[in-house]
Amino acid sequence: MSGRIPENILEDILSRINIVEIISGFIPLKQAGRNFRALCPFHHEKTPSFMVSPDRQIYHCFGCGESGNAFKFLMRYERLEFPEAVEALAKKAGVALPQTAKDDQRGTSIAQQLYKINELTAIFYRNNLSSPDGIRAKNYLLKRGIKEDTLKSFNIGYAPQNWDGLINHLRQKTISLALMEKAGVILPREGGGYYDRFRNRIIFPITDIKSRVLGFGARVLDDTLPKYINSPETSVYTKGKNLYGLNLAKDGIRENDFAVIVEGYLDFIMPYQEGLTNIVASLGTALTTEQVRLLKRYTHNAVIIYDPDMAGELATLRSLDIFIEEEIDVKVVTLPKGFDPDSFTKQNGIEKLKDRIKHASNLFEYKLGILKSRYDIKEAEGKRDVVCEMLLTINKFKNSILKSEYIKRLSEELNIDEHYILEELNKVKDNRLHTVIHQAAPKKASNINPVEKLLIKLMLEEKELIETIRQHLEPADFQDEKTAKIVSIMFDLVGQGKNLEPNSLMNYFGEEEISQIICESMFLPEVSDENKEKVVSDCISRLRGEKLRLKKQHLHDRIKTAQHQGDEETLNKLIAEFDYLIKKG
Ligand code: UTP
Ligand code: MN
Repeated sequence: MSGRIPENILEDILSRINIVEIISGFIPLKQAGRNFRALCPFHHEKTPSFMVSPDRQIYHCFGCGESGNAFKFLMRYERLEFPEAVEALAKKAGVALPQTAKDDQRGTSIAQQLYKINELTAIFYRNNLSSPDGIRAKNYLLKRGIKEDTLKSFNIGYAPQNWDGLINHLRQKTISLALMEKAGVILPREGGGYYDRFRNRIIFPITDIKSRVLGFGARVLDDTLPKYINSPETSVYTKGKNLYGLNLAKDGIRENDFAVIVEGYLDFIMPYQEGLTNIVASLGTALTTEQVRLLKRYTHNAVIIYDPDMAGELATLRSLDIFIEEEIDVKVVTLPKGFDPDSFTKQNGIEKLKDRIKHASNLFEYKLGILKSRYDIKEAEGKRDVVCEMLLTINKFKNSILKSEYIKRLSEELNIDEHYILEELNKVKDNRLHTVIHQAAPKKASNINPVEKLLIKLMLEEKELIETIRQHLEPADFQDEKTAKIVSIMFDLVGQGKNLEPNSLMNYFGEEEISQIICESMFLPEVSDENKEKVVSDCISRLRGEKLRLKKQHLHDRIKTAQHQGDEETLNKLIAEFDYLIKKG
């Protein structure tokens, strides 16, 4: 791509801007001799080793080695593609880019068109909220405690009852049906023609960090199911890559130097309205590494508030690992049963929520709390199991100070001499951990999605659940090859009316890793009988969502590559595939 913008133009742009000015627009720079210095925005550090040279017009971090010119900085910091970074700086520099350089990519212009349609759609829905048709929706929102100003700043809207309100509106703006469909706002009818995707629902536009509209979430006005319908993924919207509200909260996050992470639209909107400005929402999905990295541009500290149900707890534990791997300091808030951030704020006020956030448990306390409710730490075996599981997490820390501090605390909490815990930690490092825990326990915890393991456990415990699960999932829906294999065999065996005891099940597999997964599954916390169905359906919807997301992300990446290579034929094929997936999803 860079080859397409003539070198002399790139030079021209660079000569007209000052890298010091550009970078100080994002992070505070301090003069240090001829150079400027800052805390590096690309890795976590306590003393500044990020330097900007006005003479050479480059930056360099002596801590992590990241370096480059102004284009590179924008690409890294704002996560822009090279042409986008060039475009942004050209604008600043007052340099006109040759038309071909701007519009040469079919993909870029499709993206631009989709943003435009989304924008028009958002405006249409917003205006509708104040129409006679929308008054019910507006009253509902006001009754839930959302203020007029908030409705405006979030562009909250209402999709009318009829089947073609949006279609007619966009048609007047000469938008083609094909594009509307690509934007995911309309759907094809069986016998031909199209209809509006969202009808009689409250609309929450989902925006990216630049406040471009990516898609929509749409809530019913009553208790009908599904509660929310969301935009499908499109060539501008990949769910696991975005955080709801980050465009509004990024300054608040920088100022407070931490971000509060919640699950739902209203869990974001209500606390934000009441004055919690450093908050983002993951929109119901388990956090992805990409989302955590996005956050990392603004802070290295996070507080998670998640549902206290079982699937939520597992999702939280899993996200925690991502945070540690990304070296983000993470804490967890647990709300009283039945509350979410929205209802908690409404009932108790924002100060009470801020209070809970201030006293959030750190990772150590949170995980230990969960383990203590699972194991009996008055018994030696219980202590051993808790230590083992805690060490798996503690071992993920890259920083030795943190590691040793947590080991000290673990020793105090369980009243075990630190020396012995260290001995066990060394075994974790040596991969010899399994010799001290249950015979069949893991060498190193397998990296399998706990939701998949939980389903396996439940199927093993409750044969009736296998039928339910089989109706909604196929083995291939399990991400990991090995869990898929286990599930496939379980489906077969139960079909033949065979015995499904965990230890006999293991006989069907030669691989040791598979027995490890089955064991790990069986050691997951117990689910009470009355909760089983709910847990199963939570797990099923999480797995299905995740699978679709991965598929689309993969396709999305291939489309990008094809765009970069200018490979029209592949590009068209991939876009068609993408459209098909969207229709199916
Ligand atoms: P919740 O069921 O907790 O809803 O789902 P909520 O956000 O608290 O909404 P209210 O308060 O009942 O109005 C949390 C999030 O999960 C996603 C949405 O992003 C939602 O905000 N979700 C939930 C869906 O995408 N679809 C659904 O059917 C339900
Ligand atoms: Mn809610």
